[in-house]
Amino acid sequence: MKVAIIVHSQSGNTRKFADSLFNRFTGNGHIVNLTQLETTVPIKGGSARQNMDISFTNLPNVVDAELILVGGPVWAFGPSPVIIAAIKQLGNLKGKKVIPFICMGFPFKGMGGKSAIAWMSRTAGTLGAKVLPGGICCQMLHNLDNEIAQQTELIAKQI
Ligand SMILES: Cc1cc2nc3c(=O)[nH]c(=O)nc-3n(C[C@H](O)[C@H](O)[C@H](O)COP(=O)(O)O)c2cc1C
Repeated sequence: MKVAIIVHSQSGNTRKFADSLFNRFTGNGHIVNLTQLETTVPIKGGSARQNMDISFTNLPNVVDAELILVGGPVWAFGPSPVIIAAIKQLGNLKGKKVIPFICMGFPFKGMGGKSAIAWMSRTAGTLGAKVLPGGICCQMLHNLDNEIAQQTELIAKQI
């Protein structure tokens, strides 16, 4: 299967999650293309609730992808505005599966992670994608590397 992984990561945690997914899906024989998003102007904070004008220098073309894994950090108790802008700019996602993945600082998934997954899922669903459950990794009170390994396995089982 052709897989696109698209990740927004400021301090490297969600990128680590993306790399783990890349290795897992590549190991399963899928053809995987990973893109870490770069914006035309630096975006260091903000909320998906704000109206922000965000554009990218490297948004991939996903026309051939059958599965798209979209990941980003929790910012302000929701998804980063960067990953929401990227999903919106992917275009028509009809016939494609989308799996959202998230890294967050706080220890409980209800402190922004679930809301981020729901928001990303809604956005991809509006574009016609079939959205699968996704995964959340927390930092505080957790071992992030273990969380990433565990969530990677759960996501791989969805396919
Ligand atoms: C601007 C900003 C806002 C954040 N807001 C939250 C938040 O509301 N809840 C939370 O759990 N973590 C929050 N965090 C922490 C990040 O979600 C967490 O450190 C994540 O692992 C960062 O991922 P990254 O290294 O891929 O950028 C915030 C971080 C930043 C920079």
